[in-house]
Amino acid sequence: MRESVAIYPGSFDPLTLGHDDIIRRSLRLFDRLVIGVAHTATQSKSGLFSVAERVELIREAYADESRVETVAFSGLLVEFARERGARILIRGLRAVSDFEYEFQMALMNRSLWPEIEVLFMTPDTAHTFLSSSLVRQVGRLGGDVSKFVLPLVHGRMTERFAASDGE
Ligand code: PNS
Repeated sequence: MRESVAIYPGSFDPLTLGHDDIIRRSLRLFDRLVIGVAHTATQSKSGLFSVAERVELIREAYADESRVETVAFSGLLVEFARERGARILIRGLRAVSDFEYEFQMALMNRSLWPEIEVLFMTPDTAHTFLSSSLVRQVGRLGGDVSKFVLPLVHGRMTERFAASDGE
């Protein structure tokens, strides 16, 4: 039987517990999961980690999970998915406010590659308010973000903020 491969794309700056929740749920449904870290606008000034750092961090976070592969990509997501043999595209849906943008993206992606199937998954209610941009902002302002990210990510964020304090 052909193995099922899903793709979970995003900016992941940083990876949050909401992402982790969706990743764990996806692993229950599919044989393999490709996490695609996009080269997007969040690399600008408001960004926290470079794309290479995010990839490294996610690889470390799932080092024990051989079914997870983390890769950076640029260009069209559907092209990247096709190259990786992933026909299932996972996106997390937290609230109604996410819906319009996600729906538009899903239909655009499907019109670009009709074979792709977009699957929306909701994280645990404890994580529905989480977003990377809020975690970045709270962390930058000295708030405690340890309950929003994995300990590994928290450690790396703390180092990053300490390093940028002197700037
Ligand atoms: O975590 P994000 O920032 O909401 O992820 C958005 C992402 C990376 C999935 C989206 O920007 C994307 O797919 N970028 C790749 C370029 C692309 O294919 N754009 C057309 C999407 S309809």
